[in-house]
Amino acid sequence: MAKVKWKGGALLSPVPPTMVTCAHEGQENVFTVAWTGITNTIPPKTYISVRPSRHSYEIIKKSGVFAINLTTTSLVRAADFCGVHTGAKIDKFERCHLERERATEIDCPVLADSPLVLECRVTDVLPLGSHDMFLADIVAIDVDEALIGSDGKLRLDRAGLVAYAHGDYFELGKRIGGFGFSVAKKKKKPQGKKK
Ligand SMILES: Cc1cc2nc3c(=O)[nH]c(=O)nc-3n(C[C@H](O)[C@H](O)[C@H](O)COP(=O)(O)O)c2cc1C
Repeated sequence: MAKVKWKGGALLSPVPPTMVTCAHEGQENVFTVAWTGITNTIPPKTYISVRPSRHSYEIIKKSGVFAINLTTTSLVRAADFCGVHTGAKIDKFERCHLERERATEIDCPVLADSPLVLECRVTDVLPLGSHDMFLADIVAIDVDEALIGSDGKLRLDRAGLVAYAHGDYFELGKRIGGFGFSVAKKKKKPQGKKK
């Protein structure tokens, strides 16, 4: 594969275009964050990287909490809107007809139509340059019960999740493998009766 060399840039793809909700002293907001991920398993930790100029920045800094709402195809238009308009000027919940529910462990709204929400409590704020990284404990997860199969397993493949790659939104496509499938033993074919 012939490659050209570019200077370093934020080109990791795909990333999740999440909708982050936050609140402080009665002021509630929602904005779009793609610079997010998991940093640790036990305890479960995540981060969001936020430009200090965002209206949400001070809200999260003061309250020390936020919620990461996963975006679906039915939410993606709202996610884009919430990523190009500031809550300093408009009520994005109202403008996008986003129904709010209360989080269970933190004082923060969550989106009723997001199938999976991570409730987060900030532990550290790391200034990195253009963005500050809010490192946080994931203190609870709110899951759409319709996504839990009769075997108790979470079926996220049924959620219609959206990915973001270099400026474009994509709906997740077909399943092409599972964890460890490359090393899994092949199931033996049932033996047919010998004639
Ligand atoms: C797909 C997408 C991803 C974004 N990711 C981030 C991000 O990771 N961090 C950030 O600070 N802003 C990000 N933004 C921009 C903010 O969402 C945007 O500036 C928003 O208007 C801020 O809202 P607020 O002023 O109400 O806080 C993103 C925007 C879009 C559309």
